[in-house]
Amino acid sequence: MSRQATLIVGGYGGVGAALADALAEQEPKTLLLRSRRAQSAVTANSEGAEHALALDLRDTRQYADFAAAVKARLAAADATLTRLLIASGILQTAAQRPERGLRELDAAAFHELMTVDALGPLLVVQALLPLLPRREASHIAVLSARVGSIGDNRLGGWYSYRCAKAALNQGFVTLSRELARGHKHCQVTLLHPGTVDTALAAPFRDSVPDDSLQTPAQSAAHLLAVMQAREAAEPGIAYLDWAGKPIPW
Ligand SMILES: NC(=O)c1ccc[n+]([C@@H]2O[C@H](COP(=O)([O-])OP(=O)(O)OC[C@H]3O[C@@H](n4cnc5c(N)ncnc54)[C@H](OP(=O)(O)O)[C@@H]3O)[C@@H](O)[C@H]2O)c1
Repeated sequence: MSRQATLIVGGYGGVGAALADALAEQEPKTLLLRSRRAQSAVTANSEGAEHALALDLRDTRQYADFAAAVKARLAAADATLTRLLIASGILQTAAQRPERGLRELDAAAFHELMTVDALGPLLVVQALLPLLPRREASHIAVLSARVGSIGDNRLGGWYSYRCAKAALNQGFVTLSRELARGHKHCQVTLLHPGTVDTALAAPFRDSVPDDSLQTPAQSAAHLLAVMQAREAAEPGIAYLDWAGKPIPW
């Protein structure tokens, strides 16, 4: 088999970059590809310069070019895409913070969160599915959030983010049913990374007790352990927190 590759969508975000660092350390032979919104960010890695793949999840015209760029990188490295991590996401828009109540619900913000957090990850898989092996093991892992749980919704609030993550979860359950036919060895995992000290969580940093807040490196180490355990298990779908504990749908 050719060299294995992992692609991290949102691989320069808080949790995404920490996952990339953890993977580079634990699996140095794996080809690591990362995407971000803006083109041509260049960062140093152990093999020299690394050019980020560009994909703005809001722009449906970009997905085909993105998939072609991923395919070219894989071919150049004689690598097979066996792990797709989707670590992108937004909690709020530039104009609208998470809603405290229904009166703050704003249609434009709702649409943007649905696009980035729910539709975008599905379109990524749609574009990249032809690159995932049909007869070998693979893994699609997506950063969801505990607040996407309908069963666990006791506090209310955050309408757009909750709805977007719940829709994300439903989308990937549906995907896993389809993959059980065409990609039988593909594992699907929805993950809650914990409350992590990143730009996304920064506006709420003060309301989180220090002992509940993880650094991106801590969260990434936990998430990687959960993903590796999933990769040793029968393919299917799971919605797990950073400790590997199932979250009610
Ligand atoms: N932090 C937490 O406490 C927490 C808790 C629960 C769930 N999560 C989930 O974990 C995931 C990662 O969050 P984070 O804390 O690492 O946030 P972050 O540091 O803000 O990173 C977010 C990432 O999403 C990417 N992104 C945002 N909008 C995009 C768009 N339109 N197109 C493409 N990429 C886009 C960003 O790309 P650029 O690098 O180009 O900006 C960035 O890589 C999210 O799905 C979030 O919902 C986080």
